[in-house]
Amino acid sequence: MTTLEFANVTKIYNVRGSGQLKALDDVSFTLSSRQTIGLVGQSGSGKSTIAKILTQLEVPTRGEVLLDGSPIPRRGKGLRSYRQQLRMVFQDPFASLNPYHTIRHHIERPLRLDHVVPRQEIDAEVRRLLERVRLEPDAVMGRRPHELSGGQRQRVAIARALASRPALLVADEPVSMLDVSIRLGVLNLLADLQREEGLGVLYITHDLATARHFSDEIIVLNQGRVVERGTADDVILRPRDPYTRELRAASPDPEEFFRARSAQTSGGVR
Ligand SMILES: Nc1ncnc2c1ncn2[C@@H]1O[C@H](COP(=O)(O)OP(=O)(O)OP(=O)(O)O)[C@@H](O)[C@H]1O
Ligand SMILES: [Mg+2]
Repeated sequence: MTTLEFANVTKIYNVRGSGQLKALDDVSFTLSSRQTIGLVGQSGSGKSTIAKILTQLEVPTRGEVLLDGSPIPRRGKGLRSYRQQLRMVFQDPFASLNPYHTIRHHIERPLRLDHVVPRQEIDAEVRRLLERVRLEPDAVMGRRPHELSGGQRQRVAIARALASRPALLVADEPVSMLDVSIRLGVLNLLADLQREEGLGVLYITHDLATARHFSDEIIVLNQGRVVERGTADDVILRPRDPYTRELRAASPDPEEFFRARSAQTSGGVR
């Protein structure tokens, strides 16, 4: 079991011309394998800042991130190992995939860098990963990202994230750029993979309905502070904090959403 601790993290950005901005204020949570945490909050509440700190695009101003009790090494083998264990799926699969490279290249690269399988097994592993995200390997391997649909691109991004066999996945608004009609399919895929691979997932979203449906625990962020946390049902159906109530009032009824949706889809919804 892998455990990630986000411990008392404060992040202050220096904003040119307008001083400092506290994007996170003493935020703590623990994410373990086999668990999905939904991180919700309005635009600007600090959700992506958490993702950026976890993927080391930003460093905390105070506090730290611990993996299995140890601070993340800043360089060398330890850092590589951290990056292999925690992978990211971004909001925009178009921006995160390289337009000049084939799908095969995108999946092969982490396999080679992390020495996941022996060289002679790389091709079979690329195929296995594409099948894992329900893409037809022969149909997509030779294509470039612009030759796929948005949903297919996001599946490629997920396959690439899984290639290194991570324990944890951070998904920052993974379906918000996709057409509404295919969002649930991609989220169901993520939920299936989460269960089958025993992944720990940090699911970042504006959407309370899917947060409730796909998460065990929910953390509500408002202006960089955690204002509420608890089991998904407690937080969404019985919110105590006024901000969570506001968020809920501003979003479609989380219960209705899935009653309507599950009538349209065949299984796979949990
Ligand atoms: N590199 C940066 N420099 C300065 N300020 C930043 C930087 N990145 C983010 N911010 C500010 O920090 C705050 C939190 O931003 P963040 O991107 O974490 O929000 P978010 O919850 O992900 O929002 P959204 O839902 O719109 O994606 C915002 O006020 C944002 O303008
Ligand atoms: Mg964001």
